[in-house]
Amino acid sequence: MSLLAALKSETADQHAALENGLDLFKRAATADGYVELVKKFYAICRPMERRLVDAMDWELAGWDFEARLKTGWLEQDLQALGMSPEQIQNIPLCAFVPPAENLGQAIGCLYVLEGSTLGGQLISKRLRETLGITPETGGQFFSGYAAETSAQWKRFGEWAEGLVASDPSLQPVAVDTAKATFDCFFRWFDC
Ligand code: HEM
Repeated sequence: MSLLAALKSETADQHAALENGLDLFKRAATADGYVELVKKFYAICRPMERRLVDAMDWELAGWDFEARLKTGWLEQDLQALGMSPEQIQNIPLCAFVPPAENLGQAIGCLYVLEGSTLGGQLISKRLRETLGITPETGGQFFSGYAAETSAQWKRFGEWAEGLVASDPSLQPVAVDTAKATFDCFFRWFDC
């Protein structure tokens, strides 16, 4: 089974449970609820991405990780929603993000982070309809790569599949870490 097929099938139940448990549409039904939601995503994405940035030489791994970072989008959203940089810095961060010490683990974690941009498109559309939030007014994270989402997802898949083709031992590590990453979201959002 290809890496992406394995990641998808092995985490399908977790994705469905997270989607139901998170109930993003309910959490984002009011302006205050939406700010809390963005804070929660910031508090989990920041330590995850920090760990990933330090995990390896991304240039050597052939991945422009900087272009994919979501923490900056979340900071931009929180500022657009009225928080000061000091208030953002003081948000308590998730202290139990999964390990990202090698390429296999990084692929698993990135799968979940990159995959979240797919569902983000639905959420972004809903935010605009219900709260009038656009990427410029606090919805950049959920808007993600916008019209480029499918292309960016395809590029991620090709990159990850290419790595696994040259080193198949990465696949089980990536799958285990994707599962651990979903668990972490689950626990953090108390679903
Ligand atoms: C209300 C919340 C969510 C909705 C409605 C949603 C919806 C979706 C949709 C429509 C897709 C595309 C499925 C496809 O094209 O095959 C998707 C894929 C994905 N989502 Fe979500 N999602 C939500 C939350 C999340 C969250 C919070 C995460 C991770 C933190 C996540 C991770 C993923 C991943 C990894 C994929 C890729 C699945 C694959 O391998 O094709 N989703 N989601």
